[in-house]
Amino acid sequence: MSGTMKSLAHCRWECKYPVVFIPKSRRKASYGEVRQMLGEIFHEPARQGIPSLIPTITGTCSIADNRLLRKELIMPGRLAGKVALVSGGASGIGAAHVRIFAVEGAKVIAGDIQEEMGKAVVGEVRRGGGEATFVRLDVSKESDWAHAVREAVSRYGKLTTLINNAGIYWPQGIEAETLEKWNKMIAVNQTGVWLGMKAAVPEMRRAGGGAIVNISSLYGIIGSPSSISYHASKGAVRIMSKAAALEYARQGIRVNSIHPGQIETPILAGLTPEQNEQIKAATPVGRMGKPEEIAYGSLYLCSDEAAYTTGIELIIDGGWSAQ
Ligand code: NAI
Repeated sequence: MSGTMKSLAHCRWECKYPVVFIPKSRRKASYGEVRQMLGEIFHEPARQGIPSLIPTITGTCSIADNRLLRKELIMPGRLAGKVALVSGGASGIGAAHVRIFAVEGAKVIAGDIQEEMGKAVVGEVRRGGGEATFVRLDVSKESDWAHAVREAVSRYGKLTTLINNAGIYWPQGIEAETLEKWNKMIAVNQTGVWLGMKAAVPEMRRAGGGAIVNISSLYGIIGSPSSISYHASKGAVRIMSKAAALEYARQGIRVNSIHPGQIETPILAGLTPEQNEQIKAATPVGRMGKPEEIAYGSLYLCSDEAAYTTGIELIIDGGWSAQ
């Protein structure tokens, strides 16, 4: 068995899609031994943001052990039984949610205005054995939200989880900002979050409860000398989340906000290399965050482990706000 462990440990870093586990030794692997190895290959990829691994077990497992393993494989995730709608699921933090939530057993609807990229993320998840569907969703349009929620319910039977993640950003001070751009920022980042909750809550109630995570920003808590419309929209997301948490607390629907610091995604593509270096130097942990590091925060908040957690603001910023 140690030979098998060695070869598996060696391959798990490279394999993305179905892992074929062929024990080298002829002796029977016990359930415990195989489960231990499966645990390794299931949880490592999740940490790396790889969509999913469905190990195929061939060889020496007894039928009884195989049954036990199958049971484990069918319910491996912290989000088993959940149906999640992720806005802005085509890129960055949203795409990380789609991948990780699918690995953790959720059925995922990824909504975005970037259709090609969204379909690519969903295709990747499906090839890895996960369950995900893309819908075109402009979060500033109420009719798009109704369609996305309908799609979740018709395809997967219910809606239990909403990640209000879609967002836009540009740095612009008070005098430089235009009314047109201000209205756009508010329509997507703020109104979009309200519309998402409004559309999702009735289905969550029907499902017997649910969890909503609204992706705000560190800029929803602290100020900066630029980005006035972004601050306005993200500050609103923070307080809307608390208001919603109180409105639905007795209906089993939990609402929390996450406040990322600087995360490496296309939204920050406008930064110069010098600005990137400055951010890294000013961040206590010495680097920018990864999209997965935000999605793992949501994973906790959307799982039943967080049943007593509502109305909180989870800051994930590499220590920035502790300074
Ligand atoms: P991203 O640009 O990679 O992803 C944003 C996604 O939202 C894109 O796929 C985009 O197509 C989608 N989107 C934009 N407008 C939309 C609309 N009207 N309807 C539907 N989808 C729309 O950026 P990132 O970083 O992944 O952003 C995700 C969220 O995280 C945003 O709300 C952002 O404000 C927030 N955030 C990001 C930080 C960062 O440093 N990357 C820091 C703090 C917050």
